[in-house]
Amino acid sequence: MKILVINGVNLNMVGIREPDVYGKKDFKALVEYIKETGKNLGLSVTHYQSNYEGDICTQIQKAYDRYDGIIINAGAYTHTSIAILDALKAVNIPTVEVHLSNVYEREEFRRKSYISLYAEKVIVGKGFDGYGEALKYFADKKYC
Ligand code: DQA
Repeated sequence: MKILVINGVNLNMVGIREPDVYGKKDFKALVEYIKETGKNLGLSVTHYQSNYEGDICTQIQKAYDRYDGIIINAGAYTHTSIAILDALKAVNIPTVEVHLSNVYEREEFRRKSYISLYAEKVIVGKGFDGYGEALKYFADKKYC
């Protein structure tokens, strides 16, 4: 089972940015956690990070017919990007949306997610473990 994990804008600053909100562990640790957890679950995981909306859309387009699942934390684009929503709809790949923080308990503007209009599951506020839960969700699906 091939899974594409996408981290969007500013996620590469994890560990440096607002550690009280996003934690003290850095981005390298996040990518290692994702790859290691995926491997342990028997998944083939590709990780991609970009700060550019169009590049994220291109990466989603390239996933067409190549991946069985997408896990996406689009960062702030979550709340603004119809383009990313449309790209996800275009490729029609099962998608789980992840956020490190609990976006429902923060500023009002973080409560709206375009990606949630497509994602079949949304995981918030669990830090790195949210990615682990998303990977497990796909691993469990394999046997359904
Ligand atoms: C985030 C939440 C977003 O609102 C924010 O813009 C981010 C990170 C999270 O993982 O909690 O960049 O997606």
